Order: sequence, then structure tokens, then C-alpha cells
Amino acid sequence: MRYHARPVDGPLAGEVTVPGDKSLSHRAVLFSAMAEGTSALTGVLDSADVRSTIEAVRALGARVETARVGGGLDIGVVGWGASGPLAPGGPVDCGNSGTTARLLMGVLAGWDVEVTLTGDESLSRRPMARVTAPLERMGAAFTMAEGDRLPVTVHGGPLAPIDYELPVASAQVKTAVLLAGTRAPGRTLVREPAPCRDHTERLLPLFGVPVGTDAVERTAWVDGPVVPRAAHYDVPGDPSSAAFLVAAALMVSGSDIVLPRVALNPTRIGFLRVLERMGADITVDLAVIDPEPVGTLRVRSGATLAATIVTPDEVPSLIDEVPVLAIVASMAEGTTRFAGVGELRVKESDRLEALAEGLRALGGRVRSGDDWLEVEGPVRLAGGAVDSRGDHRLAMAYAVAGLAATDTVSIDRFEAVDVSYPTFTEDLAALGVGGALR
Ligand code: S3P
Repeated sequence: MRYHARPVDGPLAGEVTVPGDKSLSHRAVLFSAMAEGTSALTGVLDSADVRSTIEAVRALGARVETARVGGGLDIGVVGWGASGPLAPGGPVDCGNSGTTARLLMGVLAGWDVEVTLTGDESLSRRPMARVTAPLERMGAAFTMAEGDRLPVTVHGGPLAPIDYELPVASAQVKTAVLLAGTRAPGRTLVREPAPCRDHTERLLPLFGVPVGTDAVERTAWVDGPVVPRAAHYDVPGDPSSAAFLVAAALMVSGSDIVLPRVALNPTRIGFLRVLERMGADITVDLAVIDPEPVGTLRVRSGATLAATIVTPDEVPSLIDEVPVLAIVASMAEGTTRFAGVGELRVKESDRLEALAEGLRALGGRVRSGDDWLEVEGPVRLAGGAVDSRGDHRLAMAYAVAGLAATDTVSIDRFEAVDVSYPTFTEDLAALGVGGALR
């Protein structure tokens, strides 16, 4: 499906509640499936990725009932608890979702089951050894397709705890090891090279699993064996989805938008810190910590933005926002450098290469290397045709580019937005932005 993002003729204005956070939705569903008892979840993101997790835990024996309420999902989950997951009738399809595949490996590693995980073309290109390596050290076995790609068959069994230093800053790997640790007798500890999203550390205790953390040492640990208990959880809005609306408002002069109920976890909002550093006018109003910080964002355009340097240490806190930040950087004065962003090459597409190509096609001035990207501004982007490469975050970043371009930006394979933000164009429309699908 092709989407035509047309230059807007007026500012963005109004209030929009973005859908539930994707990382938290995956975790809430998985932890509920692992738990003893019936969990009640509200505000769960209704997107293709989260549907992959829901179908996966159903296939593994959790009973899941969903109801569409106010744009999100209310979900009741009867978990498998101490009796463990059932062998599914066939392969479990993780669709486009890396989080589903990688977290499930940790969930299944400690149970006496054999489960084959498959994924779509994009997910089948993404590396899995980063997860299977520590889980193998704990005692699980895996058979993999050529290389370290899906399909992967998990041969679960008794596990031993480990003390593991993550070779990549990845919350997915950290979470997989901690979840496997709930099945291993003793302390399973992970050490991360840079601070990654800590949703698992915050959410598992709500499900009755204490998690120790040391911010200075950058460690997190669980003491197993422990069976999660059912919980109630209301998922707040996704900051990564909000980032597209924030950027859209900044790109169009005179804009003034309000986004309530956004998750404001410090490990997720690096993009706000970067935009503030560039001079953007963003007010953050923290409302509660439950166990995630949640609050309201107000964004007003008008300030002249200046280029900045995004350092490797802050990359995990904005990893999914690099595409849209690169679009904003094209209108900032000077050269914005994203350093240490090699992980972008193994996301839903090679985002580093794709971004450089897409921005160039729209008249942007871009340079890139193995693990860095530079965007020079200010440049008024032009219209043109770009391909999302089936990558949701690229599709939405290009749509934002189109709002302030000199002409229409046509985006191929725009349906990819369903992976994380199916109501993206509706939310833009609520803020006064038109566009067309064909
Ligand atoms: C996620 C972690 C990040 C992120 C992904 C979701 C998670 O991936 O890019 O969209 O929910 O843990 P990595 O852990 O591979 O960096």
C-alpha cells in the first residue's frame, strides 16, 4: 500500500492519546502467560507485533480473552503457572516481532518442551545467537537454520543460573536471560554495556518476581526458581509512537500539541533529551510512577533547532527513534551525528542504509559509515518516492518528512505501520493532518 504524505498547510494542534506501549504490552502478556492465576491487562497495544505474542502464548496453552476497548485491548489471561507451557500443535509464528521471538526463547528455555519459532522474511534475517548463546550456557539447546537465524527450535530443560555480561546493549537479550533465570535454582545476573530499557525489571515484581538492580554496576538479577503470580496492569502510551507526533509538531511551524498518558521511562525517552538539547520546546509533566513513570507531553514548534551529537551511551534510550530524529535533524542548523548506531543494521530492516538512501532521495544531505550517521542541515526536504522496506519506523519517519517537504512524499509498503502503530494516520488526522492511502 502506498501512502502520500502531503505538505501541510496549517499547524498541528490538539490532543491525542497514543496507543499502548509495545515493549510493555509484550511483557505484560508474556508474564501473565507465565503466571499462576488470571491476569487482567488494560490499554494493551492492538498491533500486529503484540498479536504475534498473544497468538504465541495461546498456542503454548495460556487462555487469552481479548476485547477491543477505546482503541486498545483489554485482556484476560489464565497463565500456565507452575505446570508450564504445553507443546504447541506446530511451529509458533512470531511474524515481524523480534521481541516475541527473543523473549519466548527465554520463557521456554527452562521447560521440558520442544518449540519451533518462525518469523516473516524480515525477522528471519535477524540474528538470534545473541539470545541462544547465554541460554545454551544455562543448559538449554537450540537447533537453528543456517547462520543464527529463524526458524529456531528450542529444546528446553533444567537450567543453571549464570552471571552474564551482555556483548550487545539489548533489552531483549537481558530480558530473555532474566526470564530463563526464573527457572534456574540460584541467582541469574546480567550486566549491560549501556543502560537499556528496564521494563522487565520494573514489571516482573508486579507479577510477584523480585528483581534486583544496581544502576552503577549496570546489573539486574533474579533468584530462581520462582513462578510469577497473576497481576492487574494498565499499559501506558508508547513513547516511541509519540515520538512521531512530537517530531511532526516540531517540523510544522505554529504547532502546539498535547500527548497525555505517555510512558516516560528514562531508558526510553532519550529522544526527548536530544530534541531539548537541539532547542525544541517540549514540556514534560510527570503524573505517576506505576511502576513506570507516566505523564503528559506538550510540544510547540517555533524554536530554531541546532545540530547535536548523539553519543553511543545514549543510543539504547532512543534506538527506535533514530529514523525520525534523522528527519528532524535535516531541519536543524549544522551537522547532527549519531555515533554507535550499528545496531540499526539488524532491526526490521538495515535502518542505517535505508535511512541514508531514503533521506538522500528526499534531498537530504547524509553521510554514513559502519556504525554512524550524519545529517547536515538546515535542508528543506523535497517530495519524492521512498520505500519503507516493510519497516514500520521508516514508514512513519518518511510520513513525518512529508509534512514539511516542498512536495508530496509517496511511501511504498506503508502497511508496515500496523506492526506498532495501526492508528498512526488517524492520530495525525486528529491533529489536523491530511494524507492519502492508495
Ligand atoms: C525492545 C528492545 C529493543 C527495541 C525493540 C523493543 C524490547 O531491541 O529496538 O523495538 O521490547 O525489549 P534490542 O533489545 O534488540 O535493542
